[in-house]
Amino acid sequence: MSTISVIGAGYVGLTTSACLAHLGHEVICVDIDQEKIRQLKQGKIPIHEAGLPELVQTGISNRCLQFVVGAKDAVASSEFVFLCLPTPQEEDGRADVDALLSVVNQIREVVSPGTIIVNKSTVPVGTNTTLATAIRRDDVSVVSNPEFLREGAAVTDFLQPDRIVIGANDSKAGDRVAQIYESIDAPIVHVDPASAETIKYATNSFLATKVSFVNALAAVCEAVGADIDAVTAGLGSDTRIGPRFLQPGPGWGGSCFPKDMHALVRIATDAGYEFDLLRAVISANEQQFERIATKAERLLEGDLAGQNIALLGLTFKAHTDDLRNSPAIEVARRLAKKGAILRAYDPMVNSTSDIPSEIEIATTIENAVNQADLAVVLTEWPEFASADWPVLADLMKSPRLVDARNLLDRDSMIELGFRYDDLGRT
Ligand code: UDX
Repeated sequence: MSTISVIGAGYVGLTTSACLAHLGHEVICVDIDQEKIRQLKQGKIPIHEAGLPELVQTGISNRCLQFVVGAKDAVASSEFVFLCLPTPQEEDGRADVDALLSVVNQIREVVSPGTIIVNKSTVPVGTNTTLATAIRRDDVSVVSNPEFLREGAAVTDFLQPDRIVIGANDSKAGDRVAQIYESIDAPIVHVDPASAETIKYATNSFLATKVSFVNALAAVCEAVGADIDAVTAGLGSDTRIGPRFLQPGPGWGGSCFPKDMHALVRIATDAGYEFDLLRAVISANEQQFERIATKAERLLEGDLAGQNIALLGLTFKAHTDDLRNSPAIEVARRLAKKGAILRAYDPMVNSTSDIPSEIEIATTIENAVNQADLAVVLTEWPEFASADWPVLADLMKSPRLVDARNLLDRDSMIELGFRYDDLGRT
């Protein structure tokens, strides 16, 4: 059992705190937001993560998880200080590490000798060295320990990871960090810090590339008369490729892929290599948004002006309430620009606060499709797959649907009388 401070109570910090407490460590989760800490102390979780409320509640009841405002008091009694802070994308694509430097400056005088700072934030390659220099303490090490947590599956991904990456110059420090995870059954990849930082960007960029590849392949399947589900079944059975992240969709989004892709391009350019392959993937992703809008246009005989379109799904993927860089919003903007009138239903979105003004929010799927000229499935919510489509078809002015997630059964929808389009299925 170790004493651990986790600085930052966001998606990563909160999941890390609750899971480390679950592993038997004594954890203090720190944030600067007093209201957030007040809510967390009462077990109220501001994010939608399966299993997280239960872990937080258990941690609080077992007194191995507490929440405080401000880092100074917490770190003094900690053997490890995890940094789980935002590293937002700057205009030029670089990740902004100011939050990490600010915390390092705050805790420099109070961390105990032998403390290890463990950086979980996604940072430009070389930041480990920057932080080690900034702490100005020979008796404090900095280790890189990137996270691979998917939103909506963060607890599972933390407790059952494919691997744990530890980037350390000092092998003793690396081994001490590895011990934190000793009850997790997963290989530990010990590397140098720069490689650990690069692994994080490489993973997200490769996954985004895989998604864009399958989206482009779906367009090829449409052109040559092949079926994308059959193709990806054959493709994914190759163990060098694997079946996951081969699901066509409206494009990739979220708070990580876009940011990390631009950051890696920028890191490479700064280092003298033009990562044109990733630039092409970013551009292909933009084209995918356009491709979905064009499919809608085609089903409405080429003219969207004044047409009522029901958007089914706004979040960047199912099982989250996150709208950040959502492909659904990107497609909606393009439809609105072509003159469409938009009404959206998403089971996790009931306020217009983070939604473009062109989109009206419906409280049910029925309200969204009522009198619509066309519907577009943009997020793969199970609720849309199990909806009563015969009823919905009757509510629509005319049953037309673009299934941008290949969520529905093509033949059944056509049998219901839908003019139906999807991605690469025959
Ligand atoms: C991602 C990484 O998976 C995670 O390891 C990292 O720590 C954070 O970034 P997340 O942003 O939650 O996690 O989303 P993810 O589940 O990876 O999906 C990213 C985007 O790709 C979403 O827009 C999703 O809809 C899309 N996607 C994913 C597809 O279109 N098809 C797929 O097969 C998989």
